[in-house]
Amino acid sequence: PGEHELVVVANRLPVDSRTLPDGATEWVTSPGGLVTAMESVMRTIDSGAWVGWAGAPGEAPEPFDADGMSLYPVRLDQEDIERYYEGYSNATLWPLYHDVIVAPEFHRGWWDSYLTANRRFAAAAAPVAAPGGTIWVHDYQLQLVPRMIRDRRSDVRIGFFNHIPFPPVELFSQLPKRNSILRGLLGADLVGFQRESDSLNFLAAVRKLLGHHVDGMTISVPGIGAAPMREVQVQTFPISIDSSAVSALTEDPEIRERAAQLRRDLGDPEKIVLGADRLDYTKGIRHRLKAWGELLDDGSIDPHDTVIIQIATPSRERVESYRQLRDEVELTVGRINGEHAPLGRPAVSYQHHSFDRREMTALFMAADVVLVTALRDGMNLVAKEYVASRPDLHGVLVLSEFAGAADELRAAVLVNPHDIDELKAAILRSLAMPPEEQEEAMRSLRHQVMEHDVQFWAHQFLENLTASGSPEQEAA
Ligand code: G6P
Repeated sequence: PGEHELVVVANRLPVDSRTLPDGATEWVTSPGGLVTAMESVMRTIDSGAWVGWAGAPGEAPEPFDADGMSLYPVRLDQEDIERYYEGYSNATLWPLYHDVIVAPEFHRGWWDSYLTANRRFAAAAAPVAAPGGTIWVHDYQLQLVPRMIRDRRSDVRIGFFNHIPFPPVELFSQLPKRNSILRGLLGADLVGFQRESDSLNFLAAVRKLLGHHVDGMTISVPGIGAAPMREVQVQTFPISIDSSAVSALTEDPEIRERAAQLRRDLGDPEKIVLGADRLDYTKGIRHRLKAWGELLDDGSIDPHDTVIIQIATPSRERVESYRQLRDEVELTVGRINGEHAPLGRPAVSYQHHSFDRREMTALFMAADVVLVTALRDGMNLVAKEYVASRPDLHGVLVLSEFAGAADELRAAVLVNPHDIDELKAAILRSLAMPPEEQEEAMRSLRHQVMEHDVQFWAHQFLENLTASGSPEQEAA
């Protein structure tokens, strides 16, 4: 056994390694909500370890310490990246779990790579945990890992949290090897999901496809070999952000000045609208641009006084559906700007890069309206980041009811992004919302986000994991 009381296992480390032209290695923050949330949790934990991929093919760097945690890189070769990561994880599971917005691809070879890659993560994580410690496995790329770790370490508590939705059983049933996935997850003592509907979907799949007995949120799982029945708890834990840290950044004079500068750079428009997403088809960027284009076409929005910034963080660029999306989005942005942009300034300011935390905070502070129009999203932390960035109680959040955040952020302007007319009306209503109404909504949103931060989320999960022991541990 190792020395770490808490071991996090995720496909990605919180940092990606990049090789610079002179051959030196540079480490940059990895993309996505999982890292945003877990990074701030791990910084506050003593003796924590994070096991994951460093984002580049080939030989894994040696384990090293950063930000008060120990990082254990896992090797992925080019073939693993193509079949386990781009293939089974992001062209099979991702679209299937997100309501089949694009068609999932099923290839037998990808499954084999998913299995071997999951074995490699389990083999890397198992020896790192202290005796009786906790191993917390994250997300859809590693659903087989809980069971694989249990086979090696009967003394540790194993938690699993899924950051993305869990699909209805009618969709999940399409997945080849679906029962292996369920058995993999049931290696955990506690399986956590973002929304109540995800937990219920998972329970329904376990009942229907494996025939296990389910009592409320507890599943009875036959023991492995001669071991007795085990109990697996299922529970809902909506993830969040480091709310007070984000809120505190808005006090930074440099960031305030940057927000003012952004407004000036855009030609001092009356209103700035912002969308900020990974360039992913689940985020509803096309729907948003469609609505925006129509509002410009029919003259409801004047591009001389209203600008939209669309940040599209590059993501999974070798996966076909992501390439197509990029082409479509860039074609649409080009058309809108060609038809509507005043000379010397865009109608849509399109940014195909990632921005660091400080720059994002400045953007949120400058934005009068933020559009989160996901067609399906596990949680969506951009919505919570915007709220945390507005201690001034100014600004309007337009939020898709298909994002997990909609369960909590009831005071947002909630929309069905598939209904373009409804989306257009919501945008216009937000642009015209009187300051008192903005304040009232933002106060209620902030109450939710500041009280339920990511530390609270992690604490709830770990406390419940400790309470849900496996029989081996209770006997010990
Ligand atoms: C989502 C997923 C994460 C993933 C992130 C970025 O937030 O839940 O597991 O890491 O997207 O995607 P990528 O494929 O670049 O890791």
